[in-house]
Amino acid sequence: MTSTTMRVRGDQPRVAGARPKSLRSIATYGRLGRRAEPNHWSRLLGALSAACLAVLVVTGVLLLLHYEPSADTVTYSGSYPLLRGVPVSAAYASTVHLSLEVRGGMLIRQTHHWAALVLPASLMLQLATRFFTGAFRKPYRLAWVLLSATFVLALAAGWSGYALPDDMLSGTGLRIFQGILVGTPFVGGWLTGLVFGGEFPGDIVPRLYWLHVAVIPAVLAVVLVARYVVGRRQRPAQPSGAGHTESNVVGLPWPAAAVRSAGMFLITSGILLVMGATLTVAPIWLYGPSTPEAASAGSQPDWYTSWLDGALRLAPSGWDVTWFGGTLPLAVLVPQLVAAALLGAVALYPLLEQWVTRDRGEHHLLDRPRDRPHRTGLGVAGFTFFGVLWLSGSTDIVSTLFHVGFETQVDVLRVVAIAAPGLGYLVTVALCRALQARDRDAVQHGVETGRMMRAPDGRYWEPHSPLPAEARARITAAHQQELTP
Ligand code: HEM
Repeated sequence: MTSTTMRVRGDQPRVAGARPKSLRSIATYGRLGRRAEPNHWSRLLGALSAACLAVLVVTGVLLLLHYEPSADTVTYSGSYPLLRGVPVSAAYASTVHLSLEVRGGMLIRQTHHWAALVLPASLMLQLATRFFTGAFRKPYRLAWVLLSATFVLALAAGWSGYALPDDMLSGTGLRIFQGILVGTPFVGGWLTGLVFGGEFPGDIVPRLYWLHVAVIPAVLAVVLVARYVVGRRQRPAQPSGAGHTESNVVGLPWPAAAVRSAGMFLITSGILLVMGATLTVAPIWLYGPSTPEAASAGSQPDWYTSWLDGALRLAPSGWDVTWFGGTLPLAVLVPQLVAAALLGAVALYPLLEQWVTRDRGEHHLLDRPRDRPHRTGLGVAGFTFFGVLWLSGSTDIVSTLFHVGFETQVDVLRVVAIAAPGLGYLVTVALCRALQARDRDAVQHGVETGRMMRAPDGRYWEPHSPLPAEARARITAAHQQELTP
């Protein structure tokens, strides 16, 4: 495909090393004054998230037609024989009904649930690619904050939706949430009454319903519009390469990029539909209805909230402090603070890095992760910590499957949660430095050819070929001063 560029007025594309193949089309396209898109796979992640959101909205609206957001008790009289005659909430009965009796209901519900599982993964991938390439620095700081907000809203939407069927699993999740609220210092009881509207389960299901189908989608829509407006006004960041400068964009003409994104959107939507049609998710008739007195062991939240559950499990039980005659339940408070700090650190990272590096400049050329060892190390440390918390959310399942003691796992994971991020940071920094040294060597001495030559005096030597221009440009973008005289 031909490459093109969006030229910024008054600036000539500067070519470092060799002329890119597409320089002619760069100039032509620049004159038309149209946008170009960097030709990089990470640009497709937006289409992936957009497809998940579109599928969620379409299937969500269809679910509205049959779902009853009511905690009133009814006697189940549907087609599932094991539940017949059992008192259940109207919400649970309607969800079982739409799964087993409404034509296409199972497909719609499962597709909604699968899209809810893929969405946070796609947003996390976007955050990760932007983090490791520095695509959060000026002028992309607001875009980064809005992406972080989208991620948090996706978590909130998933969590609130998970509670709606009012089955045994969602009831267990709500019990944990109630425990966390009660643990809030000084105002715990009052806050719980306010949120639940009375004794557990109170009115939580209808309240979460409005949060799920109206409040969160509305806030999400505002954030997405803001992201669109901000994105339209910015030149996209691009990876370094031959002919790529801080003031041009080399890549695909926007119609080609739009077609490619549309393809990604349609393929993702199709795959989600196939998953909804073929892969069972949340078979709530097997779990049974939620009852206030029952909380099942082996309850797993959806993957994107498992890390919060894991944080709670790692806190030492009975870790309380008596203060001014009241009790501070640190075992509940500290995990919440850690989770909030992790999300806050992600959203505010651009400011933190600017403060530490004193770099206030604009950056349209992306970094290669190895060229910023400390940032990459921090990212790996963050993901390692998240991974350990996530794993800790599955200790009961691991106990059942592999017969490893629950307490043993928790003890080991506590140590790992403290030690592994630091270790991850150190190993990553060392790896980045080693890769940088290899790059430097390749620029200065070329790449090995694998051919052995023998000189007339009997000496053996291996000729090196010069580094290809594209690879050289990628490396030298970050080491301009160090590598070129
Ligand atoms: C970011 C967007 C959204 C996410 C992550 C999300 C997630 C979820 C999840 C995980 C469930 C539980 C599904 C299950 O029963 O297995 C659910 C249920 C539900 N969602 Fe959403 N949802 C989103 C948007 C929407 C929208 C926009 C609507 C409607 C306008 C909607 C309506 C519903 C309804 C009615 C249910 C209850 C029926 C059921 O549980 O099957 N959702 N949602």
